[in-house]
Amino acid sequence: MMMIKNKCISVSYSDLNFVIIVVEAAAVLLSLCVVPISAAAAKQELKLRFGRNGEFKILQVADMHYADGKTTPCQDVLPSQVHGCSDLNTTAFLHRMISAEKPHLIVFTGDNIYGFDATDAAKSLNTAFAPAIASNIPWVAVLGNHDQESTLSREGIMKHIVTLKNSLSQVNPLGADVIDGFGNYDLEIGGVKGTGFENKSVLNLYFLDSGDYSTVPSIPGYGWIKPSQQFWFERSSAKHRREYMSKPEAQKGPAPGLAYFHIPLPEFASFDSTNFTGVRQEGISSASVNSGFFTTMVAAGDVKAVFTGHDHINDFCGELTGIQLCYAGGFGYHAYGKAGWKRRARVVEATLEKTEKGSWGAVKSIKTWKRLDDGHLTAVDGQVLWSKKSSGNRRKKQIRVA
Ligand SMILES: *[C@@H]1O[C@H](CO)[C@@H](O)[C@H](O)[C@H]1NC(C)=O
Ligand SMILES: *[C@@H]1O[C@H](CO)[C@@H](O)[C@H](O)[C@H]1NC(C)=O
Ligand SMILES: *[C@@H]1O[C@H](CO)[C@@H](O)[C@H](O)[C@H]1NC(C)=O
Repeated sequence: MMMIKNKCISVSYSDLNFVIIVVEAAAVLLSLCVVPISAAAAKQELKLRFGRNGEFKILQVADMHYADGKTTPCQDVLPSQVHGCSDLNTTAFLHRMISAEKPHLIVFTGDNIYGFDATDAAKSLNTAFAPAIASNIPWVAVLGNHDQESTLSREGIMKHIVTLKNSLSQVNPLGADVIDGFGNYDLEIGGVKGTGFENKSVLNLYFLDSGDYSTVPSIPGYGWIKPSQQFWFERSSAKHRREYMSKPEAQKGPAPGLAYFHIPLPEFASFDSTNFTGVRQEGISSASVNSGFFTTMVAAGDVKAVFTGHDHINDFCGELTGIQLCYAGGFGYHAYGKAGWKRRARVVEATLEKTEKGSWGAVKSIKTWKRLDDGHLTAVDGQVLWSKKSSGNRRKKQIRVA
């Protein structure tokens, strides 16, 4: 046993997923010693965690469509708003959102820049993300279908994003040699320091590249999440579940997960105004084929909500089979929109439960609301997306938001 244990310890973190699969098939003895090491590896990885108030807040910014800054005009604003409106209004809105919400993480869900109109992709990205960088708040980004239309390829864009200050984005996950796209990775959010959950990820965030356009001649339209990405997601979700359900504080089910990417899944078309919160003012521009990622997430069991952009004037959340499918609504001024309909952003806040000993435990609930770019950053459509006791509750619960 001692010898086997030593062997296990030499396993590197990036090889772990592969090792666990082999080990599970091979010998129970080995798997017994792999589990604690996997938890130990997770300890060093936790960069983000819940604060002492038991909350973790994420600001989602969809479709900034940034180009060249001051010289880039706004689209779809009222005639009275055209004059003096540019990309700088997008920048100002981002600054205001960050100061109003003080999120723990900012997520940019693609079409961060509108490549066709950006003279220099790197420069446009730097300017677009500048308010996030200046805030010192960790941030991440995924790609949309327009980011690569300037001077950088999709790979080039993602490679640039990961070098920017406070960016926790990754070009692709460790240990995934073969994966489609650029910008598939996950982030673990640890429990409160000094509690039994301090070394556990109590909330898992998945980021995926939903592609740009189909490269299959017989299939028209937008890209989709490929089998290689879904396989990575499944392994990653299984690893999170295994760690969460082992000691210390072994939990009975998986920690909740949230998935962020650009292009909505075909399942976003499952709703009408009787069963979503928010609005649908245009069609659902998903891929013309269904690559099965929704089913993959339902089967994995941990993802409670999916957040996309792409359709700028849809901003609803609707629940299907225990997963909330949410749009953020368009953020950027150099993006199509609807004149008079305010640019907006989505906020998600996860709250921990108190344990019997009066300490912070697992995630109890996940709420969301949006803020509009008006004088007061008006908060709208507050709702509970998921709560631990009543997961899968179909009733719309309205909550008060600040
Ligand atoms: C854009 O920013 C300018 C300068 O702050 C402001 O006067 C204008 O109202 C903004 N436009 C919109 C549509 O918010
Ligand atoms: C978390 O990890 C640290 C460092 O390895 C350790 O000192 C601490 O006891 C661990 N906490 C719990 C609750 O297991
Ligand atoms: C939403 O309601 C419509 C009928 O108004 C129904 O056709 C649809 O299946 C419902 N969707 C979900 C996800 O419950």
